[in-house]
Amino acid sequence: MIKNISVVGAGTMGNGIAHVFAQAGFKVTLIDVNPTQLDRAIETISKNLDRQISKGVLTEEQKAATLNNLSVVSNLSTGVSFADLVVEAATENTELKLKIFEEIDLNAPQGCILATNTSSISITQIAAVTKRPGDVIGMHFMNPVPVMKLVEIINGYGTKREVTNTIIDISRQLGKIPCEVNDYPGFIANRILMPMINEAIISLHEGVAGVEEIDTVMKLGMAHPMGPLQLADFIGLDVCLSILNVLYSGFGNPKYAPSALLVNMVRAGKLGVKTKEGFYDYSSGTKELKVSSFFKK
Ligand SMILES: NC(=O)c1ccc[n+]([C@@H]2O[C@H](COP(=O)([O-])OP(=O)(O)OC[C@H]3O[C@@H](n4cnc5c(N)ncnc54)[C@H](O)[C@@H]3O)[C@@H](O)[C@H]2O)c1
Repeated sequence: MIKNISVVGAGTMGNGIAHVFAQAGFKVTLIDVNPTQLDRAIETISKNLDRQISKGVLTEEQKAATLNNLSVVSNLSTGVSFADLVVEAATENTELKLKIFEEIDLNAPQGCILATNTSSISITQIAAVTKRPGDVIGMHFMNPVPVMKLVEIINGYGTKREVTNTIIDISRQLGKIPCEVNDYPGFIANRILMPMINEAIISLHEGVAGVEEIDTVMKLGMAHPMGPLQLADFIGLDVCLSILNVLYSGFGNPKYAPSALLVNMVRAGKLGVKTKEGFYDYSSGTKELKVSSFFKK
């Protein structure tokens, strides 16, 4: 019976994951090495709960109960010591995640399920550094977590069936739709999304069409809510590049080779929304989409 959840990493995804578990009635310990991130996460969760109240989908009492289910700690070992389920959402870096999982494995109780929210790192590789590979699984939430319905559940090579069933069940308790896949590079979400984004960037680079035209074709023609270039800016071009490199090296197939333009933009520090410039220019702070001067005809 799962009651206590520890969420490792209080960034963009960690605060959202902590939010949805706490709102569903679980006791959540949010852990981050950086105490400022913990303060910021509680502030963000509180603001997002206020937004739910203003939309009429949550009451003040439910907000108070949600915040009451949350506690924060900066020490990983103590933070996981009572967990029934750990969901790791720390920075996307293989060495770091392997180190974190070794430490979680040493300190989490026997029977505790160890899940990771990684976008691209092998679940099987992470499981292999623990003494309980059967209890390790991918639980890939989408951004923004309180809004997006999907949880991509990734079975590592040795993930036990009962562990997968528990994670499917708990995802439903959060009001999410679980979807089970196996552990190969990019899983399903990014294996399909990233080549599409890459192809959009290659088409732009070859001069087939401009930024707005590419995004408009995909928005109006395919009913995508956002064009692939705008989406890349939102995800972060550095993140897109690193996932493409995982696909490229994982499959050894040139079809996943990242566009040279993408590589150049990352080198130039044009990472999208977070640096205020990518394919679009976000420096004005308004919602209006303005193509970056670099790509203006
Ligand atoms: N951002 C997205 O859209 C998105 C979507 C799906 C999955 N993911 C995955 O979620 C994970 C987190 O991504 P994010 O965007 O929230 O990153 P982020 O940079 O916003 O947050 C990462 C947090 O991890 C913390 N951290 C680093 N080392 C730690 C340690 N040793 N112990 C505890 N905390 C530590 C950092 O202080 C930071 O607060 C990554 O694996 C990423 O691939 C991200």
